[in-house]
Amino acid sequence: MRIKVAQAKRVRPVWGRNPLTDAAKHLQKVRRQAHLEERQRANFQRELCGNEFAALTVMNGAGGAPLPLAICRRPLSIVMTKAGSRSLFEALVDSSFTENQWLQIAINLCRAVEEMQNKGMVHNDLKNDNVTLDDDLKVHLIDFGLATLENETCGYGEGSAKDWIAPEIMGCGASTFASDIYSVGQILQEIYYEMPVTSDKFESIIQGTRYEDPDDRLNIQEVLQMMEMLI
Ligand SMILES: Nc1ncnc2c1ncn2[C@@H]1O[C@H](COP(=O)(O)OP(=O)(O)O)[C@@H](O)[C@H]1O
Ligand SMILES: [Mg+2]
Repeated sequence: MRIKVAQAKRVRPVWGRNPLTDAAKHLQKVRRQAHLEERQRANFQRELCGNEFAALTVMNGAGGAPLPLAICRRPLSIVMTKAGSRSLFEALVDSSFTENQWLQIAINLCRAVEEMQNKGMVHNDLKNDNVTLDDDLKVHLIDFGLATLENETCGYGEGSAKDWIAPEIMGCGASTFASDIYSVGQILQEIYYEMPVTSDKFESIIQGTRYEDPDDRLNIQEVLQMMEMLI
């Protein structure tokens, strides 16, 4: 009997009855917050990964997109086929393409985007490091983590302004083919800077993709047609 009393006393958490100091309360709050943020980050990564796998499945190789093979849990990643030998970003930084080769890359980019749109997909993050090239200048679209179907929302907040992202999709506006055209225009602009010779026609195509109002922008077929006339 005496032993039981002693045991009961021993397991009572003596420290639990003491009020927490302000510093301890603060520490507890910071830890909880960090834990919550970590869980939110992990959930977001899982969501992106699942979304990318689904989008790549819909694409089924259109626009040179990689084919999805499997999702690996640890580390969280997608196994996919290789698409291109280097990014357009790398090519822009370090390459000596001729004007005609740059033009060919621009046209191949537009063809890839047209193929993507034929699948009903909006990429939502088209930029130079989400485009890759083969040695024969074939273009591949990659990184479909934020891709949606047309008129869905990809979830950009108001605060995340990026110069390649169409203004109407900031703050959770619906994604459209026209919003991707705005991003295509940014890439065409970067290609144009690398071209040794200036061209009014090329400049006017770029201008046609960058209007604030999505209804005023050229569509991908128009861009492609105008580009092909430059070659
Ligand atoms: N399927 C692929 N084939 C070839 N290169 C790839 C492929 N996927 C990604 N890369 C390379 O890795 C880089 C980062 O990949 P990405 O999917 O854009 O990841 P992140 O979400 O970090 O931007 C790309 O710019 C590209 O150079
Ligand atoms: Mg990327």
